[in-house]
Amino acid sequence: MRVDIVTIFPEMIARALDFSIMARAREAGAVEFGVHNPRDRATDRHRMVDDAPYGGGAGMVLKPEPMTACIEAVAGPGAAVVLMTPQGEPFDQPMARLLAQSAQMVIICGHYEGLDERVRHSLVTHEISIGDYVLTGGELPALVVIDAVVRLLPGVLGNEASAAEDSFARGLLEHPHYTRPPEFRGMRVPATLVEGDHAQVRRWRRKMSLRRTLRRRPDLLARAELTDEDRELLAEIAADEVNPAR
Ligand code: ADE
Repeated sequence: MRVDIVTIFPEMIARALDFSIMARAREAGAVEFGVHNPRDRATDRHRMVDDAPYGGGAGMVLKPEPMTACIEAVAGPGAAVVLMTPQGEPFDQPMARLLAQSAQMVIICGHYEGLDERVRHSLVTHEISIGDYVLTGGELPALVVIDAVVRLLPGVLGNEASAAEDSFARGLLEHPHYTRPPEFRGMRVPATLVEGDHAQVRRWRRKMSLRRTLRRRPDLLARAELTDEDRELLAEIAADEVNPAR
């Protein structure tokens, strides 16, 4: 996959993509990154990328000419052109999976009061928000989307991590994790995990995953596809609440 980022703060993006799994994904050839500054496309003397809004009011608006020139220079045919904005569709795992199917994703980092509406209208294919809060710019949201998408590309993660993604794919939160030592500050690792009977471990993990989702995100549980075993485990969880000693 090719990912191009249009930003007036290119160093902020380039540095962040130089670490950990994003850097490894690039070295492995799973993804190619390009970072582009619309200021390089500004033709006026002061290389302006923003201007005051028509109609007045606070803040500035990203100008259509340099933004359009920059996006058109990098977006190939069929590219997903994504604008990061708090007005966008809420980002989630299914959207990450959908974007991971594209051959190219161009991400536009919004700034100031936003982008001139004519650019949005003519070039943007997806508008994405990473949550109901307002950040100072689209760079951090762009990095969130890039990370979530790139880790799904073939060859980026090992089997273990893809299985973890599958568990979210089935709509539940993950079970808790433990490593050595078996006892830490008086807290013991659950006996089922220490004993290591694979079938029992799987059942315990599924139960914890259901319990966590029930307690923290009942909205996800209501939408999840549940098996007969899941329903049995949920009945056990309900019984545990009545009699915690079980
Ligand atoms: N730009 C500023 N805030 C944002 C948000 N919550 N999501 C996406 N882009 C943004």
